[in-house]
Amino acid sequence: MRIGVLTGGGDCPGLNAVIRAVVRKGVSVHGHEFVGFRDGWRGPLEGDTMPLDIQAVRGILPRGGTILGSSRTNPIKIEGGVDRIKDNLRATGVDALIAIGGEDTLGVARQLYERGVKVVGVPKTIDNDLSGTDYTFGFDTAVNIAMEAIDRLHTTAESHHRALICEVMGRHAGWIALHAGMAAGANVILIPEKPFDIDRVCEYVESRFRTRYSPILVVAEGAHPIEGQLELQTGELDAFGHVRLGGIGELLAKEIEKRTGKEARTTVLGHIQRGGTPTAFDRVLATRFGLQAIDAAHEGDFGTMVALRGTDIVRVPLSEATAELKTVPVSRYAEAEVFFG
Ligand code: F6P
Repeated sequence: MRIGVLTGGGDCPGLNAVIRAVVRKGVSVHGHEFVGFRDGWRGPLEGDTMPLDIQAVRGILPRGGTILGSSRTNPIKIEGGVDRIKDNLRATGVDALIAIGGEDTLGVARQLYERGVKVVGVPKTIDNDLSGTDYTFGFDTAVNIAMEAIDRLHTTAESHHRALICEVMGRHAGWIALHAGMAAGANVILIPEKPFDIDRVCEYVESRFRTRYSPILVVAEGAHPIEGQLELQTGELDAFGHVRLGGIGELLAKEIEKRTGKEARTTVLGHIQRGGTPTAFDRVLATRFGLQAIDAAHEGDFGTMVALRGTDIVRVPLSEATAELKTVPVSRYAEAEVFFG
């Protein structure tokens, strides 16, 4: 078979590890050929390819980002997009696709599969918000980066008797905030799944100051106050209709200063959480996903996504994996709340 590989959506550490595993096993065990499509769905949409053989994947295991490039191109929104992809797959002699991406990229994969394209999905995202898999690769790296940053905030916060807020990514799921905040001993963690009460947040801040320690707050970019408490700004939309998030940390700092009279400052980690080398956990998970994905393609098991269940790598229908977002359950947040204040 000749198999096309693409990486779509926000990049994350571990993408290259998947590409390497797919190509290494695909060539040496199954005897397939590969072609790389550049920049997510833009590649097959425009027929933009690059060579993808064993030589091309040498040395990429520890490298962050993706050698194929990525984009948030949504071919479903483009007039005639699906037919253009089908034509380009035919023209480049590609029999099947391995699409590595999150909710959006795999949502497109599902729709293409329903319209006759042979595709296998691999779940990636630092947000860890894909159903059907216990973890996505990229998440562990992002959490470790955020944890290290929060550890560093503790010491400087205490020197200056300030409240320090760390704003992390995660879109509409609070997984990064929850795990990084728990791992780094945050005094308050705010996630999108539970609208926060600003009065309560200020109480936690004040009680922490009373113990002569400085409060550290971790806020997910998608967190928001109980309706009517504070006014939020809205950002622009991307091709998948997602609003660009960010700014809640700054808003929170202003409000805490106003209400408590204590200095509050914000650090926004932003894309630092997505850059650089993957952790060992993400390298192994990404590699195992890649090995399973090429087996699925080889066996003709299309319309599936590889997934982690416990310690096993399994296959689940793309339709199940993209049906709804996996958000933080109330019980998981309650575990973290024990340490607030
Ligand atoms: O989905 C991954 C993610 O990093 C989110 O956590 C964040 O909201 C978004 O992508 C940022 O997107 P962009 O790379 O377009 O700034």
